[in-house]
Amino acid sequence: MTLAIIGGTGLTQISELTITGQQTLDTPFGAPSADYVFGEINGKQLIFLARHGNPHRIPPHKINYRANIWGLKQLDVTDIIAVAAVGGIGSDMAPGHIAVPDQIIDYSYGREHTFFADDLEHVTHIDFTEPYSPALRQRIMQAARNAGIEISPTATYGCTQGPRLETVAEIKRMAQDGCDLVGMTGMPEAALARELEMAYANISVVANWGAGIVAGEITMAEIEKNLEVGMSKAIGLLKAVSLLPD
Ligand code: HPA
Repeated sequence: MTLAIIGGTGLTQISELTITGQQTLDTPFGAPSADYVFGEINGKQLIFLARHGNPHRIPPHKINYRANIWGLKQLDVTDIIAVAAVGGIGSDMAPGHIAVPDQIIDYSYGREHTFFADDLEHVTHIDFTEPYSPALRQRIMQAARNAGIEISPTATYGCTQGPRLETVAEIKRMAQDGCDLVGMTGMPEAALARELEMAYANISVVANWGAGIVAGEITMAEIEKNLEVGMSKAIGLLKAVSLLPD
């Protein structure tokens, strides 16, 4: 197994990672968000990519998801754990909490979302019944049990376009649709990984309540404060993953 971690807002770098190398890659789809960083945690080799660039400068709708995922495939990555900041919609998704979603609803638009756009002789429809790899999700759950980190083992992730946050009505509709979480980067990343046959799972870190779930506006200060707590838990979880046998 060659494991990659895609870090989102609040996880531009992992200080626990002992860095052994770095590589700039170009792809047929353009440049990835940042250099790929090679390193190890607990002796386990892995590759890290900062989704929003390093420093954090690329908004969700401008991320070159195809380049990011293509580059990981070029580096022979087999498994991707994507870490993402999200808003909580379900009542158990309080700020600071961690969930490993099992389903996605995609509300994003206008993003380059497939590698199968140009070869019209071979129209390919990937299976996406289970958008996240059940096996990789199980590994994360095992790691959470080993480390004593409380997580929600299932959740539906709704992907909005951003970069603005949602309205109260939008969050109400998402709740009615069955979304437990709202984020801006889950798609097309998950589908692109499936197209290139890499196992992909997501660790969602709740940064705030979705709009209107509690009274008042959502502030960046609140998001940053909650992410500090949540991301340190997520790093604990990644460390526990690195201790699992392949
Ligand atoms: N909505 C969408 N994406 C997010 C949010 C949110 O409330 N919080 C963090 N990422």
